[in-house]
Amino acid sequence: MKNEEKVRASSRRLLRDKLIAAAAKAREGSVSPYSKFKVGAALLTKSGEIIGGANVESASYGLTCCAERIALFKALTNRKGKNDRQDARLIFIAIAVVARCDGGPMPCGACRQLLAEYAPDAKVFITDSDDLKKVKEFTVRGLLPRAFVLVS
Ligand code: THU
Repeated sequence: MKNEEKVRASSRRLLRDKLIAAAAKAREGSVSPYSKFKVGAALLTKSGEIIGGANVESASYGLTCCAERIALFKALTNRKGKNDRQDARLIFIAIAVVARCDGGPMPCGACRQLLAEYAPDAKVFITDSDDLKKVKEFTVRGLLPRAFVLVS
């Protein structure tokens, strides 16, 4: 590998590790009194911001919202340039998801659909909170090929 490529690969790894650390930190905000399963997520936006979220549960279990969707909704509703509707598309380039389970938590189907609507080519990093160094890597499209789209 050429030196330039090595530098690029190591800065990508640094950014990935920073995103995973942000997801682990966001996980501390989980409100999960029913399942006791804490999940943290962090998005890297196209403008270089890192936005975290955690799962929030409801006594009416079905109303629970996953960490990935909370992070996505925060990123969407906080973004600058809100007047430009196109601005929401491709809003993030990577997402990290962390929970305490072997191999890390795979995003549920509902989250995959939402993530695919905004950034199908974004990277997805999955890690077990007990071993943040072991990372599984996917793309949103790889996790949900042929996602539903509303053709107008
Ligand atoms: N959960 C997430 O936050 N993300 C996922 O991708 C799957 C599940 C949460 C929802 C619920 O609070 C808990 O994990 C147990 O299902």
